Amino acid sequence: MFVIGSGGRHFEKELRELGGEVLEVELRKFPDGEKYVRVLGSGKEATVVSSTFAPQDEKIVELLLIGDALRESGFQRLRAVVPYFAYSRQDRVTKEGEPISVRAIMKALGLYYDELYVFDLHNPETLRYFPGKGINVSPAGVLAKYFAEKLGDGIVLAPDRGALNRARAVAEKLGLEYSHFEKRRISPTEVEMRPVDIDVRGKNVLIVDDIISTGGTMIRASEILKKLGAGKIFVGVTHGVFAEGAIKRVSEAVDELAVTNTIPTPVSRISIVPEILRL
Ligand code: R5P
Repeated sequence: MFVIGSGGRHFEKELRELGGEVLEVELRKFPDGEKYVRVLGSGKEATVVSSTFAPQDEKIVELLLIGDALRESGFQRLRAVVPYFAYSRQDRVTKEGEPISVRAIMKALGLYYDELYVFDLHNPETLRYFPGKGINVSPAGVLAKYFAEKLGDGIVLAPDRGALNRARAVAEKLGLEYSHFEKRRISPTEVEMRPVDIDVRGKNVLIVDDIISTGGTMIRASEILKKLGAGKIFVGVTHGVFAEGAIKRVSEAVDELAVTNTIPTPVSRISIVPEILRL
């Protein structure tokens, strides 16, 4: 039984079409801006689906209220599917006095939920902060399926070493080669960025990453690939957290930009709903 939060409405039609049973829930706001939640039904187990894109804090509070409402209504086992997990990049203290924000949110969700499923979490190790069972779901299957034909016998690249696992997972599904970009200092003032140990000349390339924000990373990578004589350049990313103008800038720099629908955007062409139904 699914309960759809306001960060999950864009999944609902497909979820129902593919056979998901959805419990009715009333979600609105009081005149002062506070959230009102009411669960219209009963049961023992429920899976609450809501991505925490902007306005993030509202969606997080709503997840807590839905959890509380479901417990109050007698539900005994609760799972939260939070495809895009807000605050995931704030996973360390960089200046004294800061919080580990991702930990705060995970601990709060742990008050109500037994299991937490997140898609392509920025730092999967942070799932240890969730008191229950925390699972990082890979989007490699849906990304690989979407790009398989376009990419042909191309290669898969990560924009940095940290994202290499993502490139590997997609490449292995497609039986293709993979690598990552690396920064190399060539003089005190110059840093060169290039793919490591792989020849991109004449090859179609798919660059994969967890998040696109300003698009700067992908635009830089695409410029380098063009200089190196790559064929078509595709960008496939899990979470389209696009800053103003980023979709246009990246789309103009590459042959195709497609992200999953963990966040609804005009280029969210790859659905994770079949994956949600498999959880
Ligand atoms: C960084 O650690 C992330 O994995 C992404 O590479 C980054 O958020 C992309 O940002 P932008 O699109 O602003 O270059």
